[in-house]
Amino acid sequence: MAESAEIIMDGKSFKFPVIVGTENEKAIDISKLRDETGYITYDPGYKNTGATKSEITFLDGENGILHYRGYPIEQLASTSSFLEVAYLLIYGNLPNSAELDSFTVRINKRSLVHEDMKIILDGFPSYAHPMGVLSSLVCSMTAFYPESLDSNPSDEDMDLHIIRLLAKMPTMVAWSYRKSKGMPFNYPKNSLDYCSNFLQMMFAHPTESYNVDPVVSDALNKLLILHADHEQNCSTSTVRIVGSSQASLYGSVSAGINALWGPLHGGANQEVIEMLDEIKTSGMTVESFIEKVKKKEVRLMGFGHRVYKNFDPRAKIIKVACDQILNKLGVNDPVLDIAKALEEAALKDTYFVDRKLYPNVDFYSGIIYRALGIPVNMFTVMFALGRLPGWIAQWKELRANKEPIGRPRQIYTGSTKRDFTVIAKR
Ligand code: CMC
Repeated sequence: MAESAEIIMDGKSFKFPVIVGTENEKAIDISKLRDETGYITYDPGYKNTGATKSEITFLDGENGILHYRGYPIEQLASTSSFLEVAYLLIYGNLPNSAELDSFTVRINKRSLVHEDMKIILDGFPSYAHPMGVLSSLVCSMTAFYPESLDSNPSDEDMDLHIIRLLAKMPTMVAWSYRKSKGMPFNYPKNSLDYCSNFLQMMFAHPTESYNVDPVVSDALNKLLILHADHEQNCSTSTVRIVGSSQASLYGSVSAGINALWGPLHGGANQEVIEMLDEIKTSGMTVESFIEKVKKKEVRLMGFGHRVYKNFDPRAKIIKVACDQILNKLGVNDPVLDIAKALEEAALKDTYFVDRKLYPNVDFYSGIIYRALGIPVNMFTVMFALGRLPGWIAQWKELRANKEPIGRPRQIYTGSTKRDFTVIAKR
């Protein structure tokens, strides 16, 4: 017999079905709860709420497991290219070589952005944060491609929007950086792979030749894969909820970029490096910083996770990669030692142990980005570049499943004054 959950309210019993996922995750289906009982659930921060069924990413926070479409993240990060992983997330299977070739050609063909985008970029002050610039540029694609506003696109049109966004995102990211530096824009080079092309658009100098360092492009490839999807996190939920109103792909992803920007989400990678730099320059000891965290004066950025309560598998891979990449590049960043000392001190301290706080993906990623030459205010933009295929896949799945518009309820706790005449008489 199928399992069910019994809820007794106002002396009456109600039964709700239990649904089970392919990895044996269980949920009580309360979609009829209000209709049958008049009650809603209260779950701030959606800590216990399954907002959707999804076939894209599986995450087991207790055991530190992360799979994209059934493949362990460890395997993908060590053997795949970012575009292969993007294909996997978006279309559901790893591409064979013909599929990958045609995907790559389609992306390459659309990597140029409209020249008028430069006018939009020119309107920003050079000190604008690149996350704000990026979300604006992505949203501006609705203007360059107004057909993307069709709320009922054919599969073909939807696919074209997807390819366009994947193709133009590296160009938009690199140009946001070049604008902030007052440097001329570099155009995409289709002879290069996705990561190398991005690096040349970021760093090639007009008066000098630029060869992409394979150590740098391999490191970037790994980082992008590790960030590519993470089921229903804050920015992905934002993309899904915006998409559920049948908003365009570009509008939905632009909203996701803004959600990612916050320091508790993707913005943490910038905050981590600023925290480490501050510890270094102030001369504060690791022990005294940990004491400040325990007194709740500051948070240990890059630590803790809503879902991982044992370890973050992405952080494990990144920590090893961090040592290897800095070694290969001959970079000696003193904040790496501070980060390791902080991790060691925290993992022994009951404050962190009791609360199950471990390093997350952002703890070491910034140190690698800095070694690759990426400026600190671009770290979260790099996260967005990596997360793009996940956002796209989740948006596509939501549309394919014709999910209803996202619209949570609330418990009203405001005033109950009803007598308007009291004010009127004054
Ligand atoms: N430093 C110090 N204390 C912490 C931290 C931290 N980084 N994270 C959580 N806590 C404490 C928190 O104060 C609370 O303590 P108490 O029970 O005494 O009130 C307890 O741990 C539970 O914290 P919470 O805020 O209720 O947990 P949450 O699941 O709502 O928040 C989090 C998760 C990631 C927002 C939080 O751990 C945090 O703020 N971490 C620092 C920011 C960060 O690194 N964010 C990146 C997350 S990974 C990238 C991504 O996918 O977004």
